[in-house]
Amino acid sequence: MDLTYSDISLEALNTPVQDWRLLFNFMIKNGHTTLFDAGAGHAYSAQVAQKEFPKIKVYAYEFVEERIKHLDCPDQVIKCVDLFETPIPKCDITYLYLPTGPLLERVLSQLENGSIIAAVESHGELFSRLEESAVHLDSLKISAKRHACELKIYQWQKPEEDLKAKLRQWSFQKTYKQIHIKEKDVLLGNTIWCADIEGLTITPDNFVETIYPPRRFELNQVLQINEPTDVELIERRRAGEIKKIFIKPYGIIEDSVGKRHSYEY
Ligand SMILES: C[S@@+](CC[C@H](N)C(=O)[O-])C[C@H]1O[C@@H](n2cnc3c(N)ncnc32)[C@H](O)[C@@H]1O
Repeated sequence: MDLTYSDISLEALNTPVQDWRLLFNFMIKNGHTTLFDAGAGHAYSAQVAQKEFPKIKVYAYEFVEERIKHLDCPDQVIKCVDLFETPIPKCDITYLYLPTGPLLERVLSQLENGSIIAAVESHGELFSRLEESAVHLDSLKISAKRHACELKIYQWQKPEEDLKAKLRQWSFQKTYKQIHIKEKDVLLGNTIWCADIEGLTITPDNFVETIYPPRRFELNQVLQINEPTDVELIERRRAGEIKKIFIKPYGIIEDSVGKRHSYEY
């Protein structure tokens, strides 16, 4: 999954300078001094703080080195890191302009209860995802043409440990764990099939989108999270050789052309 947006314009990739000014003025008014820009793009955040806001310190973490390597911002912390590996810094504000999915979930999972988030979105479901677990505190009218017209400020509230939260917790881990999904099949009747938990996204309207196999179904079809029983089969599905693995009414593999074969489960 490429989240680096290698082909989009600077305007779509970055929050514009004037909107950073707006947010930094809001921070100063409210006594905040540190901001974590999670996936910083060209780190306009750090550049604006360096030039115009001596009281603000930005931690700008970005995966694509070319976007940040020439920057000279001695009072800021600009790092080339993979946020799937590196822990987030503890800051007064965490700034999010990211799509929903495993990367966002990994960042959110590290926030302490009560943390303040500032978020923008262009299209997508970031606000609705945050509103599942965060209280909306304030909105700032912003000018970016590519973004929704408001930057929203939230307070994070750690969610309860239910199945949905567990699915999200596992979605950003390297794992062979499987989810079991119930579904009525035209030929087989009531079935249970399995999918990788790694990489999945839960949409705000409670649909699950898996990558292996690429499917979308309702959250209430998910029965449980299981240890894998056959890693070789899972790897073949990741490689595209297998479309679907049924475990009930009995073991059935659907191959890449849609043909079904039984196997011992
Ligand atoms: C939509 S841009 C937002 C840029 C910046 N936050 C802003 O608002 O101006 C998201 C950035 O996240 C970066 N990103 C994606 N995956 C990442 C990862 N695993 N670790 C760090 N950064 C990542 C992308 O390369 C991209 O530059």
